[in-house]
Amino acid sequence: MRISVIGCGYLGAVHASAMAELGHDVVGIDVDAAKIAQLAIGKPPFFEPGLPEVLRKAVNSGRLHFSTDIADAAGSQVHFIAVGTPQKPGSYSADLRYVDASIESLIPHLADGDLVVGKSTVPVGTAARLAELIAAGSGASLAWNPEFLREGFAVQDTISPDRLVYGVAPGAPGEHAVKLLNEIYATALAADTPLVITDYATAELVKVAANAFLATKISFINAMAEIAEVTGADVTQLADAIGYDGRIGRRFLGAGVGFGGGCLPKDIRAFTARAEELGRGESVAFLKEIDKINLRRRQRVVDLTTKALGNTVYNAKVAVLGLSFKPHSDDVRDSPALDVAVQLRGLGAEVVATDPEAIANSRARHPQLQYEESLENTLRGADAVVLVTEWPEFRHLDPVWAGSLVKTKTVIDGRNALDAAVWRAAGWTYHGLGRP
Ligand code: UGA
Repeated sequence: MRISVIGCGYLGAVHASAMAELGHDVVGIDVDAAKIAQLAIGKPPFFEPGLPEVLRKAVNSGRLHFSTDIADAAGSQVHFIAVGTPQKPGSYSADLRYVDASIESLIPHLADGDLVVGKSTVPVGTAARLAELIAAGSGASLAWNPEFLREGFAVQDTISPDRLVYGVAPGAPGEHAVKLLNEIYATALAADTPLVITDYATAELVKVAANAFLATKISFINAMAEIAEVTGADVTQLADAIGYDGRIGRRFLGAGVGFGGGCLPKDIRAFTARAEELGRGESVAFLKEIDKINLRRRQRVVDLTTKALGNTVYNAKVAVLGLSFKPHSDDVRDSPALDVAVQLRGLGAEVVATDPEAIANSRARHPQLQYEESLENTLRGADAVVLVTEWPEFRHLDPVWAGSLVKTKTVIDGRNALDAAVWRAAGWTYHGLGRP
């Protein structure tokens, strides 16, 4: 099938490449000429494991093209909208300007029977509004098909999703949408991927509800970490023990510096803003508490570091391990790790930070920090080591080797990623989050 993908950021670039991998003819469109130029030669403009291979293969096969001209969407039967919906400056709401602009610019190029498929995360009610716009300006229709990919596993999650959700219009237009989407996702459907067909509102809500649930699960265990801290309990053991209950499950019970990234934080905020607009603010008011618990954990890491350094970080050399919001990503949007580094620097610490992939993005946002490519140079002479993104190379750091480089063997494990007993045995003063 001929497909256009409008918006070639994390979501769009991965989606376009994965659709080409599945055998479709794809054109990826974005207003950012520099991004398109890079993608067109098979180079992703961001770090995502597995993407370079799939992208290069698709471009070389001739099944994937890129363009800055929305007119190149003409001739595709299905048009995916994959533009960003960031948090609006000065507000909790989602900024829909890119979604609106992409739909408005696409409408003149739509043919009768075309299907526009929204993948962006939007406030509930957006699809119904866009469907009217599309119907008024063309013979095309709209479906909402939320995306659940995780950064770091984006290619795998797109090619083999754990579920598919189609939000469609009632009646014949909806049946037409299901037929086209089934053709696009034929490979996943043949592998028995669960499919849920809904109305627009449900599909939009599925996405924000899933992210709200994940955020809640993380803040729940972080709240338990706060209680553990005043009782001497160990939150990691607590998580193991409750996680054995199949109804609870151990995943997303990783207590630490909390969640960040381009999705969870802004999605729970946009959800509360939308619920308030709908007069149901109290239904998701708890998400504000989830947000607060989450942000408190960043402060906790800063406070632990300050305390460990004798109640001031001024002029102390602090080695910060990790900058991305999670491992296997170069994304520093709302990254707890980068936030901690910046806060420590603001308190007068001499911060030296390292990350396997996220230094360039961090430097662009915070040039005041000192960055080091090498772990060895980061650790050398440090008064304290703060681990805030659990990349495998930090998780598996040898405490004896690290101890030979630092000035003082003090570690703050902001992800509970290290074996406390092993580090203590190597002479380190170890501080975890919610564990003794
Ligand atoms: C999240 C969702 O997991 C995806 O399903 C969704 O498609 C995506 O948002 C999106 O809306 O596009 P992602 O932002 O890539 O995916 O990251 P997650 O793996 O969910 O991690 C989010 C944050 O939570 C990270 O900062 C991570 O370090 C933190 N986290 C995760 C914890 O602090 N503890 C955990 O146990 C798990």
